[in-house]
Amino acid sequence: MRHMRYFPLFADLDGAHVLVVGGGEQATQKVRLLAKTGAHITVVAESVTDELAGLEEDNAIWIVLRTFLARDLEGQRLAFAATGDAALDLAVSRAARARGIPVNVVDRPELSTFIMPAIVDRAPVTVAIGTEGAAPTLAREVKTRLEALLPANLGALARRAADLRAAVARAVPDALARRHLWQRLLAGPFRHAVLGGAEAEARSILEAELEGAARPAVGRVHLIGCGPGDPDLLTLKALQRLQEADVLVVDRLVDRRVLEYARRDAERILVGKTPRGPSTPQAEINRILVREARAGKVVARLKGGDPFIFGRAGEEMAALQAAGIAVEVVPGITAAHACAARVGLPVTLRERVRHFSVVTGAGADGVPDLDWQALARPGAAFAVYMGLANAPLLRCHLLAAGADPATPVVVVENGTRADERAVATTLADLTDCVSGLAIAGPAVIFVGLDWVQAGLARPEHVAVHRRLRQPAARDRDCQDIVLPSEAAP
Ligand SMILES: C[S@@+](CC[C@H](N)C(=O)[O-])C[C@H]1O[C@@H](n2cnc3c(N)ncnc32)[C@H](O)[C@@H]1O
Repeated sequence: MRHMRYFPLFADLDGAHVLVVGGGEQATQKVRLLAKTGAHITVVAESVTDELAGLEEDNAIWIVLRTFLARDLEGQRLAFAATGDAALDLAVSRAARARGIPVNVVDRPELSTFIMPAIVDRAPVTVAIGTEGAAPTLAREVKTRLEALLPANLGALARRAADLRAAVARAVPDALARRHLWQRLLAGPFRHAVLGGAEAEARSILEAELEGAARPAVGRVHLIGCGPGDPDLLTLKALQRLQEADVLVVDRLVDRRVLEYARRDAERILVGKTPRGPSTPQAEINRILVREARAGKVVARLKGGDPFIFGRAGEEMAALQAAGIAVEVVPGITAAHACAARVGLPVTLRERVRHFSVVTGAGADGVPDLDWQALARPGAAFAVYMGLANAPLLRCHLLAAGADPATPVVVVENGTRADERAVATTLADLTDCVSGLAIAGPAVIFVGLDWVQAGLARPEHVAVHRRLRQPAARDRDCQDIVLPSEAAP
């Protein structure tokens, strides 16, 4: 986990004394923001802007027209320096720090003990955005997006929730049922009624919801496709379901960054399946899902890629349906699509590649029984999942079935993650490529997609692997599989 230098906190300034040193435009900006709080603001400066003078006339701030003195800091909760004078800013910073008073010096993080985030103000809902000073423009860009996303009167909804809190706690004593009720109230028709100012409608929705919430809760399960790694590839629905979940049942291949989008208090159950390593048996996973949903919880079953592509979602759905538990499938971006996009390799091409399939390279006990003749046909194009360990056997079966040794192959390992690697090679060189480059997966092996013809969109991102040594007279990989060139004449 990356080091977080600045820890975000919200300071209670109601009734607190706050000092602003400086009277120019930057100081005015600070005061404008501080004036939204209930703080007693003192401005110390030799001259001030008209806006500050106006604020004093309105009794919103108190101005002391002289240069800063260290004793101005007495009794202050926070201090801001925005004087435009480097020596004076430094003096304010030193004096504040000597007294243990948090200080912010405009544009001088090295003199500050706290920095100011960009703020989206829907009080009491406040969003603070910081980049630790790395990219203030980026913070402003995020702020602009959030401003557009959050309704202007979101604060009204939060205030309404605060008013209802005690009554809801009395009506729905069970904590889990109460949380579900709040989720429904704050995301569903009640929210829309409050935000739309439809008071009578809001009241009647609330009454019906309170009545419903008092009944025993029934859990449900969402089988969520979390994509190949990059959390930006999550769908909006996946995000919503993640945030609703009381418990997360998480697969090994789900990128840990995805979990950042879940509620912090959601319980996490890891049910990793490691190839050839320790794993939770599928029957046990099914039992966990049924058990958690029966306890009235909203369960997010997080799976890598798409749940319906080599994801065993069918088995989990069947177990849940047999137990009478509601289940929803949220599709995700499957590894092949994400990896193809990363390297710019179209999986169909007009007039050239009309058929694309996905196959598994792992059988229950060894290489799966695939239709090798069909896969070896000229023009066949497919992606192999879970194929690394069996790459030598896949290669041999395809060659034995008559595939051209020069068939193009692209291997994408850890697609969309920080350690992503992509290599282009040929079917003949596949084994050498996987072992020589120590590709350890997870990886998708694309076979039959002519990356040279397709003009890979990101050629600089894809290494080209060619076998240096000549193949042995008898292809050792192929063991009992007889290649056409070795068959008796
Ligand atoms: C059990 S399957 C799960 C597939 C998943 N349901 C999907 O739709 O992507 C696991 C295989 O998916 C592929 N895979 C998953 N994540 C990947 C990634 N980030 N990069 C490349 N391949 C990946 C690998 O072939 C891996 O062996």
